[in-house]
Amino acid sequence: MGQVNLGIIGGGTVGGGVFQALRRNGALMASRLGVELRVVRVAVRDVRKARAVKIPAALLTTDWQSVVNDPRVNLVVELMGGTTLARQVVLAALRLGKPVVTANKALLSAHGEELFAAAQKHGANLYYEASVAGGIPIIKVLREALIGNQITRLYGIVNGTCNYILTRMKLEGAGFAEVLADAQRLGYAETPPDLDVDGHDAAHKTGILASLAHGFWVNPRQIHTEGIRHITQLDIQFAGQLGYTIKLLGVVKKHDGQRPVQVAVYPALVPNSHVLASVNHVFNAVYVRGDVVGDTLYYGRGAGQDATASAVLSDLADAALDLKTGVKSRVAPFVPHERDGAVLPMDTAVSRYYLRLSVADRPGTLARIAAILGRAHIGISSVIQPEGHEVESVPLILMIHDAPNAAMRRALAQISKLAVIKGAPAMIRVESFE
Ligand code: NAP
Ligand code: HSE
Repeated sequence: MGQVNLGIIGGGTVGGGVFQALRRNGALMASRLGVELRVVRVAVRDVRKARAVKIPAALLTTDWQSVVNDPRVNLVVELMGGTTLARQVVLAALRLGKPVVTANKALLSAHGEELFAAAQKHGANLYYEASVAGGIPIIKVLREALIGNQITRLYGIVNGTCNYILTRMKLEGAGFAEVLADAQRLGYAETPPDLDVDGHDAAHKTGILASLAHGFWVNPRQIHTEGIRHITQLDIQFAGQLGYTIKLLGVVKKHDGQRPVQVAVYPALVPNSHVLASVNHVFNAVYVRGDVVGDTLYYGRGAGQDATASAVLSDLADAALDLKTGVKSRVAPFVPHERDGAVLPMDTAVSRYYLRLSVADRPGTLARIAAILGRAHIGISSVIQPEGHEVESVPLILMIHDAPNAAMRRALAQISKLAVIKGAPAMIRVESFE
């Protein structure tokens, strides 16, 4: 039986999980692969740190370069996070012709094109199944299983931390800060967690999925990104009364005959009848529509030690088989096959909206708001002023028909300036999944 020697950079939540999972299922994998996976070095920041998963001191070092350059190491596993040092680690390994497994979506989002080019140049593969949606093998799905499809729609709940927060806010009425602290304790959140709650982590992942689906590397700066900080209990409750659940969605849409692809991340009202509305807690789901296959759904834990370790193990297996057979690029990591690919400017994207205004409860208020929307050719589909809020200002909920983002943005800016508006309006898109 052959042997592949792993040098792991990072022994934290994911690195520890991989070490532990290899201890549990290494023999099983060896019997399935005909190759033994052996960890020979692990680089960490602090070798004396107490670790939930114990790693033998003899394997630990603080010097990542000595791991990458170790002649025994023939597969490098980057699990340190960040984009600066991690980029150096991955490039150094690829330059030595050593394949790399990474879970680092921030790195791929920022430097994917450069890293894939380096992988090709040096004939070493780059594997990244764990970078999107934790334990769900969505990279393989898009790159391999759905290769015969044009992807027309992709909707993903791809951030476990945000889904965990939104779920507990809805089901338990829990507070944002308290649930975020739990997500950090459970090893779901990034460092810093702003990457999660401000939507950037979901944007990194959505960009990777959009790139695979549409064949050009999506620049993260072109991805319209909103997080969940502004989602309040009030909106969660009103959305529930209207038959919706608020989810942070990664959205990739290609409309018939339209060249640019819409790629965006935003919280959205999802109809309770849609399967994504019932994806709760740390679970992720990716809903993919292909022109041949139709609608498909992938579901599983989106963050945390074991789910992510499972995805890393899958990459380790692919890499080990490639090393065993001597095939350098059995599955190309990313093939940029669409030269004219472009991202749709968000202002031209059309959507329905939920609008919650805090208004003075006096005659003429609704007429003023409706006049602004009317002049902008924006249609109102329903209006609710819930009972039981009879104080100085009252909530007014408007459900808005399909409207371009720019028109809605401008109308909202005008509405916000009305004297009858008390407090910041809340505008959340309503996803119809058409
Ligand atoms: P983590 O718990 O913070 O672990 C990071 C590890 O990297 C730690 O062991 C740290 O050492 C080590 N490290 C940091 N800087 C280093 C340096 N300069 N030299 C050597 N080692 C260094 O992070 P994580 O949650 O495992 O995440 C790792 C990667 O996986 C990130 O890219 C993340 O986005 C991605 N990911 C995470 C999850 C998840 O659920 N957590 C899921 C999917 C993907 P010390 O232990 O000594 O501090
Ligand atoms: N922080 C990420 C999340 C980890 O919560 O989804 C998994 O990529």
